[in-house]
Amino acid sequence: MTEEPVEPKQELAPPPDGKPGGAAAWIFGGWIGALVAVLVVAAWLVGKDEGRRQAENAAPTQVATAPPAKTTAKPEPAAPAGPGKQLFATKCGSCHTLKAAGTNGAVGPSLDDLQPDAALVEAAIQNGGAGSGAMPKGLAAGNDAKQIADFVAQAAGG
Ligand code: HEC
Repeated sequence: MTEEPVEPKQELAPPPDGKPGGAAAWIFGGWIGALVAVLVVAAWLVGKDEGRRQAENAAPTQVATAPPAKTTAKPEPAAPAGPGKQLFATKCGSCHTLKAAGTNGAVGPSLDDLQPDAALVEAAIQNGGAGSGAMPKGLAAGNDAKQIADFVAQAAGG
């Protein structure tokens, strides 16, 4: 209890056989060890406190900024009024029935019954229906074809 109260904190490996460390080295090492231990404990305490404070600050914000995003909502099936409708009525209506476009052609299948999706309509426009030759190829192209396809898909609910 008299001198070197930090002696037990000494963590240096014991000197190898036959080479006893000097008393100065032990004391010096002890001081360094004590100092390092104090610094480590202090840093740990500060860090712990800091981390807890940050966590407390951050927690409410993280919870608040995560609203469930629903992106799968389908557009309303109501028939859109756009260029697609007019194009369909002009180019397709003589052969196809589609209520939303006000057509009642009966050469090809009723698209209200067929309910094609946009990809099928575009393919049909490009290839001429399913390829029987009864429907002309390439009645529309590019943006026109796409607008007709979108219109039919939405109007027919495909
Ligand atoms: C001259 C008449 C005629 C016109 C004009 C016409 N079609 Fe057709 N269509 C048909 C016939 C007949 C079929 C069924 C035979 C076939 O698929 O080859 C058909 C089939 C289709 C099909 C079904 C294809 C499948 O794979 O089942 C779609 C979709 C279609 N037409 C869309 C259109 C669109 C869109 C237009 C306008 C750009 C159009 N048609 C214009 C006669 C026509």
